[in-house]
Amino acid sequence: MDNNDKILTDIWDLLNLTSDYLATGYLKDHSGLKISTDSLEKIAEEISVCTKCKLCESRTKVVPGTGAIKPSLMIIGEAPGADEDRTGLPFVGRAGQYMDKWMDAIGLERDKHIFLANIIKCRPPENRDPGSDEIAACLPYLERQINIIKPDIILSVGKIASQVLTGRNEGIGRLRGQVYKYEGTSLIPTYHPSGVLRNPEEYRKPVWEDLKQVKVYLDNKNSQ
Ligand code: URA
Repeated sequence: MDNNDKILTDIWDLLNLTSDYLATGYLKDHSGLKISTDSLEKIAEEISVCTKCKLCESRTKVVPGTGAIKPSLMIIGEAPGADEDRTGLPFVGRAGQYMDKWMDAIGLERDKHIFLANIIKCRPPENRDPGSDEIAACLPYLERQINIIKPDIILSVGKIASQVLTGRNEGIGRLRGQVYKYEGTSLIPTYHPSGVLRNPEEYRKPVWEDLKQVKVYLDNKNSQ
């Protein structure tokens, strides 16, 4: 093969790679292995211009999620509240600050060990529950985030996030206390920090039990 032939072959390979990528969202390396080109930045950019549901009309800022690059824990809440909508950051309001204390109690820090996200990336007006159409439109973003982050364990906080991720309909009081799998990743549901702030006598103890389970799970994983 002379030099011109080689250049033509390279251009041909490049065109094939590009068309594969456009069709599938994956690049294949020379061995045919699939390499994902998805990234958290790309997902956040898509969310920033998302118009897949009517929440785009009332949001101030989208809240894609933030945290450690290689987190051991991913915390998934329901939806941004007023503080999150204003700042574009998850769990920065009173509930989030309270949740930082939970994490502190099991030796975890936000930007070091945790990635925080929500089922819904835009605030529902008046903090109403997200509709099933809004959840269905937004969930693929979270699925892609989990796929990239690959946390050791997921903590879902509150009824809605826990129901969506376990695929079950019970209230959080019945869902918690067990370990589930979400797309192969272990998942522990617990109460939402805002619920615990409203009723600490009832919910603080079970949350502590759930957090201890998270800690045991992570300690075991680290000692493997
Ligand atoms: N509640 C949630 O579920 N998520 C946030 O980001 C803030 C409050």
